[in-house]
Amino acid sequence: MCGIVGYVGPRAATPLLIEGLKRLEYRGYDSAGVAVMNGKGVETRKAAGKISRLESALSSAPVHGTLGIAHTRWATHGPPTERNAHPHVDEHHQVAVVHNGIIENAPALRTLLEKTGHTFSSETDTEVLVHLIESAYDGNLEDAVIEALHLVDGTYGIAVMHGKEPNKIVAARKGSPLLVGLGDGEYFVASDVSAILAHTRDVVYLEDGEMAVVTRDGYRICDLNARPVDRQVSRIDWDLDQIERGGFAHFMLKEIFEQPQTLENTMRGRLILEEGFTKLGGLNLTKEELLAIDSVVITACGTSWHSALIGEMMIEELCRIPVEVEYASEYRYKNPIVTPNTLVIVISQSGETADTLAAMREAKRRGARTLGLVNVVGSTIAREDDGGIYLHAGPEIGVASTKAFTSQVVALALFTLKLARLRNLSVEQGRRIAQALAELPAQVQSIIERADEIEALAEQFKSAHNFLYLGRGYNFPTALEGALKLKEISYIHAEGYPAAEMKHGPIALIDDLMPVVVVAPHDAVFDKVTSNIQEVKARKGRVIAITTREEPALKGQLDYEFRIPETVDMLTPILASIPLQLLAYYIAVKRGCNVDQPRNLAKSVTVE
Ligand code: F6R
Repeated sequence: MCGIVGYVGPRAATPLLIEGLKRLEYRGYDSAGVAVMNGKGVETRKAAGKISRLESALSSAPVHGTLGIAHTRWATHGPPTERNAHPHVDEHHQVAVVHNGIIENAPALRTLLEKTGHTFSSETDTEVLVHLIESAYDGNLEDAVIEALHLVDGTYGIAVMHGKEPNKIVAARKGSPLLVGLGDGEYFVASDVSAILAHTRDVVYLEDGEMAVVTRDGYRICDLNARPVDRQVSRIDWDLDQIERGGFAHFMLKEIFEQPQTLENTMRGRLILEEGFTKLGGLNLTKEELLAIDSVVITACGTSWHSALIGEMMIEELCRIPVEVEYASEYRYKNPIVTPNTLVIVISQSGETADTLAAMREAKRRGARTLGLVNVVGSTIAREDDGGIYLHAGPEIGVASTKAFTSQVVALALFTLKLARLRNLSVEQGRRIAQALAELPAQVQSIIERADEIEALAEQFKSAHNFLYLGRGYNFPTALEGALKLKEISYIHAEGYPAAEMKHGPIALIDDLMPVVVVAPHDAVFDKVTSNIQEVKARKGRVIAITTREEPALKGQLDYEFRIPETVDMLTPILASIPLQLLAYYIAVKRGCNVDQPRNLAKSVTVE
């Protein structure tokens, strides 16, 4: 979603704000802007399009000052024009606001404000905040912000400044992440640590309903009734090079190539090979509580929802507990059945996805135990869940999720193994799975070393208009994920299907122009998938198969074959996903698409 950064200190604010925006650009890149206190008042520069356009605007008309706020936008209300870009200011250029989230009662508030003489200059919901703060201002910005926020419904992460208080940024949050960065004699406000990591690792996360008042001399946190709140300082352990491209053409490629290490990191200290067991310190569930679980719900969005489907199969197969997988956006508005022994697993790379967070809160409200599988340490879901398994995959900057997905599947496997061994999985079976997990990083490495084979394949298929992805069992979600990766970065229409479902409809699409990617490792359903491949071939479809070994039944049936190493069935989606990630990546690059910033998308969807 959108990104916010603010600075107050002795240094020139504009270059720091631009640097922060560039690090946040993966969150939204429709338009951007800065507002700086220039010694006389608030001065803004904005531009539609990428941050480079804002930089050009600033180089022809620089703004100077040591306090400012900035924003990169992913449009919700109003198209991505310069007019709608943030910061928004009032007619007198006194109040400047940057905002992530959605003000739901903006239309009604706007009508009221217009009736009392306010003139709006954009179509955004954010601008009502500017006018509300302007109206409420009586010499103290935090009081005016509190008054304004009491009038709005919806979600926000905001940073505000006022021309009459040139030493102050006021920030507040409800439903949209925000933190204060503590530098050496300087302070930052940001929606995401990556914006400020180059300058400080010490941050204070705001909770919903809290406000920070940040000046050159320090910061304080209070609630929306101005009561002081004490918040701990957190130390971020990410390195700067983890949020840089490090010689790779794109973040996505870097993140695909990082997977041997990220999988290792997800498993570090957690696998007990000789016992076929796992150690998961953050679950916050006793053995008795784990044994009492009688139903599991897994809820997530997008790619994380695909890993949830794999988790469902693992838990049902090995733990024999019924599992339901729910889109978080649906679960939050259902009337779900939750008992005290229901475990609700919440999967989110960012830990900030609005629907997933709301689904988790709904599950908690109904009395479920929640377990978060989250990558971003300190994110809202990670702070609010009852227990968790951090993915430790490091920052994922590419908008298309890759390394977080494979780490999610590993984290689900670690949890399944623990629960299954506590129930009735034998040591022997446990050891086999633990050993297979331990072998994954080297196996992934062996696939990545053959990336050039996939690049050559991408050259052959880059002009296709449609793709079908098929898989069964554990690899039906792999097919869904492969299709999602392709469509989101290359804009080629792609559908994932359970292989046998194809003959109930999609088979009508197959002709000699249709590439069909079939995920066909030697697993429990291999023979069935073989028949499905023959059905495609009989209609002259072009079959690209991900297989594990030579198979007479497939002779003459495949137009292209990529072999992955063998592993236990439940881990095949991890190995099969790597060539599919690479295929999507290379096709998108060859089509000239902006892989790291695909159109209309943004990392971390913090609005509903
Ligand atoms: C796709 C992708 C999205 C996310 C989804 C959930 O490549 O990245 O589908 O998986 O928006 O995001 P998180 O996992 O951050 O909750």
